[in-house]
Amino acid sequence: MPGSATPAALPAAHRVVLGLQWGDEGKGKIIDVLAAHCDLVVRCQGGANAGHTVVVGGRKTVLHLLPSGILHRHVRCLIGHGVVLDPVALGHELDELAAGGCDIAGRLLISERAHLVLPTHPLLDRAYEAARGAGKVGTTLRGIGPCYADKALRTGIRAGDLVDLPAVERAVRARIAHANALAQAWGVEPLDADAALASWLPAAQRIAPLVGDAIAALHAAVDAGQRVLFEGAQGVQLDIDVGTYPFVTSSNTGIGGVLTGTGISHRQIGEVIGVIKAYTTRVGSGPFVTELADERGERLRQRGQEFGATTGRPRRCGWLDLVAVRQACRLNGVDALALTKLDILDGEPELALCVAYRLDGRELTAPPARCADLERVQPVYEVLPGWQRPVSGARGVADLPEAARAYIARIERFLAVPVRWIGTGAARDALIERAP
Ligand code: IMP
Repeated sequence: MPGSATPAALPAAHRVVLGLQWGDEGKGKIIDVLAAHCDLVVRCQGGANAGHTVVVGGRKTVLHLLPSGILHRHVRCLIGHGVVLDPVALGHELDELAAGGCDIAGRLLISERAHLVLPTHPLLDRAYEAARGAGKVGTTLRGIGPCYADKALRTGIRAGDLVDLPAVERAVRARIAHANALAQAWGVEPLDADAALASWLPAAQRIAPLVGDAIAALHAAVDAGQRVLFEGAQGVQLDIDVGTYPFVTSSNTGIGGVLTGTGISHRQIGEVIGVIKAYTTRVGSGPFVTELADERGERLRQRGQEFGATTGRPRRCGWLDLVAVRQACRLNGVDALALTKLDILDGEPELALCVAYRLDGRELTAPPARCADLERVQPVYEVLPGWQRPVSGARGVADLPEAARAYIARIERFLAVPVRWIGTGAARDALIERAP
């Protein structure tokens, strides 16, 4: 029939998964579940600052650099050029997976354009944080910001450079000499170049055979009609441009970072899935409008085990901030939501949803740009009744307590985006999926 495409001619619905809050939304679990229906999973940005937790058969795996699809034996994984890659951290992760019986042979490709995290980067991360004093960002100290800074300064070293290891060693030694001068000026212990290279160089050499043309591999998969899943790291509120600057990470954590970090075209993205926790958490410094600095926040932290997957730091906890999430939905064209950790709210007498901000007598419907303003805004809450029986074990929405269904419906109405997945526990199968 003229003008109508056969199913075979339709482009595959390549999916993107993004965190819409401050990271730690539970993306790892959603990606792991969606990856079962994918051929290729692609990491787009960030680095070993990320911590994606997946629980399979009672065994917990925390992935920092490897795409969360790696736990499925049929899935191939790409680390895109937007990622900053720490060879030592990746080596540890590969060892852990091997110890757990997960074979990645032939399933992982690292972009030759991805920048390498050098021994100088964590050093400079510590130095910059120390220099900021009380105004520190509270970074993960994984060297993420300094690595992206070197990239922007055009002084970075890329994974593809590992074809000439002696040249890389010379370049890293020069970077160490330069970084040591800066560190000393800031009173931070300098690096011993030989000691630093003794662990870094073998780790770099180990990953060299995994490096290749990830753009070509991605487009070959797309052209072959394979299903691709793009895995965002951190969350939109930590985006370097639209997040709570300067208390952000150093990459674009939204759809922009997916495009620039992998080489996919916007035309090939079929669906953007946003992940939100049923409440809000944040690690590190920076404004947090709905923070609960009381026993309710502590209860969420303990029940939700809200301690950083990468650093172990206690996460700050608070109510769901729908103003921030709506902004994230708008900026990223979010088609569907995954609402995670609903079970952590079990037993709360009442729940609050932040539906507007108030600043100097004015009502705001989107977050202000300046942190100084964001620190001063007051949340406008809508209070809903809680539910007293556990949501865990629910197989469908109909099994959920009425108050839980009302909570979800209010979120959907406010955001004008459907909630397609509902997380009711840590395990892979503790997830309700609704039909689109
Ligand atoms: P960096 O990315 O290590 O430079 O840290 C910058 C900010 O982003 C800090 O507040 C970190 O706590 C936060 N951050 C970075 N990665 C993650 C993540 O994966 N989850 C949650 N917060 C993160």
